[in-house]
Amino acid sequence: MTIRFLYHSKDDPGPWAQAFRDADPELEMMVYPEMGDPAEIVAAFVWRAPHGLLASLPNLKLIHSKGAGVDHIFDDPKVPAGVPIARLVDPMAVAMMGHYAIYHALGYHRRMDVYRAQQAESVWRGLPPPDHERTTVAVLGLGAIGREVAGQFQRLGFRTLGWSRSAKTIDGVDCRHGADALFATLAESKIVVNVLALTRETENILNAQAFAHMPRGGFLINIARGPHIVEADLIQALDSGQLGGATLDVFRAEPLAKGHPFWTHPKVTVTPHMSGDPLPRTAALQVARNIRAALAGQPLLNEVDRRRGY
Ligand SMILES: NC(=O)c1ccc[n+]([C@@H]2O[C@H](COP(=O)([O-])OP(=O)(O)OC[C@H]3O[C@@H](n4cnc5c(N)ncnc54)[C@H](OP(=O)(O)O)[C@@H]3O)[C@@H](O)[C@H]2O)c1
Repeated sequence: MTIRFLYHSKDDPGPWAQAFRDADPELEMMVYPEMGDPAEIVAAFVWRAPHGLLASLPNLKLIHSKGAGVDHIFDDPKVPAGVPIARLVDPMAVAMMGHYAIYHALGYHRRMDVYRAQQAESVWRGLPPPDHERTTVAVLGLGAIGREVAGQFQRLGFRTLGWSRSAKTIDGVDCRHGADALFATLAESKIVVNVLALTRETENILNAQAFAHMPRGGFLINIARGPHIVEADLIQALDSGQLGGATLDVFRAEPLAKGHPFWTHPKVTVTPHMSGDPLPRTAALQVARNIRAALAGQPLLNEVDRRRGY
């Protein structure tokens, strides 16, 4: 039996086609815009598909995001009602998001910006040793990724806080929840890592008021979504010295426009949305299993709650 599904992404389909063949030889991956008969497509594995594409597939049994975020699916006003949506939580990508946050946080913590500037002037001068046990990192969002990121910081010995919508318990992590707890959490945190879902409630959550609550000279690492940040407020906070640096992997408009002030800002590090790209080898196993589950009417891994929006 052949099970046909649609692949839509700007990434090279070659490694994905191979990984799906290895995961389940009965799956046939159609690479958009080659679809054959749309009625034969039973699942769609998509990243930022053109609006209306999903609605044009009459026998769709599963919409599967090619990433952990599903905001790009809900952006489509014609996303068919009644078709379950699953997101990809690739264990390798989740671990990599932690590595990315740790790499940049350690750079801030060890003041590599200062040492790089000193090197440019041939200056040999050590700073006092930083105390990681007395440095607080806050991880905003304690879902599939945030929980792992917080755990990685905790295991390195940083004082680690977590913040989410509902209450959580994570070993060694001081977890807070609810809107009322946000500013107090930020106020304690020298380094803030954003891993929130993007919803109407969390859009623009990292704004002037939030930055003002952070300790002066604090650092922000955003690996979630660009619209969490009010860009003008971030630039203002960096320019005034309220924030000491920002590492940004995601942006309101991607790719980041040439000429955008983030590219050249001395306190901003820009990366091209690469902190947690799924690995075809591990991710295809999960998607293949979900396609089978959807066809059999069984529960899905990482099904999205449409009402909640994530
Ligand atoms: N840069 C990249 O390459 C990359 C890769 C993958 C994912 N991402 C992004 O990373 C983010 C996290 O992904 P995930 O898989 O960990 O998502 P997830 O499992 O859905 O977790 C989302 C977290 O956000 C919290 N949250 C949602 N609304 C909130 C609110 N109003 N107040 C406080 N907390 C709220 C949730 O709280 P509850 O736990 O209480 O529900 C949850 O802890 C997403 O934005 C995703 O798009 C980026």
